[in-house]
Amino acid sequence: MMAMAHPKLGLRPFLPADTPLLREIFRDSIEDLTADDYTEAQQEAWASVADDEKAFGKKLAGELTLVATLAGSPVGFAALEGKDKIDMLYVHPAAAGQGVGAMLIDALEKLASSRGAAELVVDASDTARGFFEKRGYVAQQRNSVSVGDEWLANTTLHKQLAAKREAS
Ligand code: ACO
Repeated sequence: MMAMAHPKLGLRPFLPADTPLLREIFRDSIEDLTADDYTEAQQEAWASVADDEKAFGKKLAGELTLVATLAGSPVGFAALEGKDKIDMLYVHPAAAGQGVGAMLIDALEKLASSRGAAELVVDASDTARGFFEKRGYVAQQRNSVSVGDEWLANTTLHKQLAAKREAS
């Protein structure tokens, strides 16, 4: 076997036909992976954001969305909004903890750099905050976001991309 994290893991741009599967990944990851951090009502409000398939597909197509595949099937996705905001990162629970999220964020960081972004910003869920901190993102502020009838907490984190040397 070759020295790869996972030999069957792949990465490709989003296609409109991916929308139904990405909706399922979105809902399943929220339901199965965020229960320690959010109430059932909060999870339901969050997952409902993708109920309107047409609107969700439009959002994915309007951003720079990457799809991670395992043996050819989508298992996760990440979306860059503009040149410097990570808007979405979701991995299917059956594929979590295998480096899929890391692969997606590495790729988005490279794309953002090539678009001229000096830093990346993300409003991370409490579930994903540790993931981003481990990758060098620094927490800046806590937020409370209104989703449907619920309020969900998240944290804004930043990461410098350019190898800029600070004056000391
Ligand atoms: N806290 C601390 N470390 C973590 C966490 C966590 N919650 N999650 C993953 N890690 C670590 C892993 O241990 C791993 O460490 P290692 O490289 O030393 O082994 C490293 O981060 C990479 O983990 P991956 O396997 O690449 O992460 P995964 O593919 O499981 O994806 C993700 C992580 C996206 C957070 C996934 O758990 C998920 O979908 N969660 C639910 C949905 C969610 O909250 N999404 C983010 C919403 S906020 C937004 O979209 C901007």
